[in-house]
Amino acid sequence: MSRFRAYRVHERKGAITARLENLAIDDLTPGDVTLRAHYSSVNYKDALAATGKGRIMRRFPLVAGIDVAGVVSASSDTRFRPGDEVLVTGCGLGEDHDGGFSEVVRVPGDWVVPLPDGLSLFEAMAIGTAGFTAALAIDRMEQNGQQPDQGAVVVTGASGGVGSFAVDLLSACGYPVVALTGKPDVADYLKELGAGTVLDRRTLDLGERPLEKAQWGGAIDTLGGAVLTWLTRTLRPWGTIACIGMAGGTELNTTVMPFILRGISVLGITSADCPMKRRRRLWQRLASDLRPQHLREIVSEIVTLEELSGVFERLLVDRHRGRTVLRIAGND
Ligand SMILES: NC(=O)c1ccc[n+]([C@@H]2O[C@H](COP(=O)([O-])OP(=O)(O)OC[C@H]3O[C@@H](n4cnc5c(N)ncnc54)[C@H](OP(=O)(O)O)[C@@H]3O)[C@@H](O)[C@H]2O)c1
Repeated sequence: MSRFRAYRVHERKGAITARLENLAIDDLTPGDVTLRAHYSSVNYKDALAATGKGRIMRRFPLVAGIDVAGVVSASSDTRFRPGDEVLVTGCGLGEDHDGGFSEVVRVPGDWVVPLPDGLSLFEAMAIGTAGFTAALAIDRMEQNGQQPDQGAVVVTGASGGVGSFAVDLLSACGYPVVALTGKPDVADYLKELGAGTVLDRRTLDLGERPLEKAQWGGAIDTLGGAVLTWLTRTLRPWGTIACIGMAGGTELNTTVMPFILRGISVLGITSADCPMKRRRRLWQRLASDLRPQHLREIVSEIVTLEELSGVFERLLVDRHRGRTVLRIAGND
């Protein structure tokens, strides 16, 4: 493929624009593995990057997209051969390296994960960074001692990509799940994924005391801000909060009381630079014991490169559910 299409973001005098362009391989940032992309996916971070609403990209122009799955077309890295099915999530893709919203993607071999047996390229991108991050959160919580008998785990931003996978995976692991959402009309969807209870974020009493009634065994939080603060004050002793996102704010305004009187933990989750050994192990789990049970339900739409620009605003204004998969050359 001498010319190929890619969704590239430009910056001029502080203004961000993005468009579908025809590129040649030499337009892409260097790498030793070239792949023909079959699928990517749209994450909250992609929406921030492509609209300029968040400072995600560290160089311009840059092809957007933090996820990609496809087939190796050329490799100077001996670990990969043409025809191999592979995936890349995070690692700087779509941030300081040309990303996955492109028919051709070129990356360093150290970022490449062989597609695990049992997952298709489509399924890998339906999971993408969102599902990988939910799996990383559960893995780290369990390493910190979290167990189902500690009580229900609250998932915030439950109808989003990370939230949907968190509900699905926690439920499959035997945790009672409380889904917190700002969209009460998605209650049936969240119950289908495995939530026992669905709470409306807009009617939540966040309280003000350093310690409120201890209610939750643990939490996976994609919102940050006032909701994360509330979680620290309402967690039962020895519970763990996986702190993942900031869709609701960046501040955390708590005290030391939940930590020293209830022994709670807040674990920071960062998927983009997850070490490769752990990354491969988690992708293996996502294809086996942590395989999502409701992948088809979680994928709310499949879009093409031409349709991409319409997706970002919906994510940022919270008019979106589950995952958007980008079909580039795949035939799901
Ligand atoms: N740490 C990491 O490695 C990592 C990895 C992936 C994602 N993240 C972060 O996790 C968060 C969720 O990512 P995602 O890809 O799952 O996003 P997403 O699909 O857009 O989901 C975000 C969800 O957050 C809720 N929300 C609450 N207030 C919102 C607001 N003001 N604007 C938009 N959504 C709002 C909505 O769910 P309800 O209506 O159900 O409340 C929404 O569906 C983001 O902050 C993202 O940057 C972090």
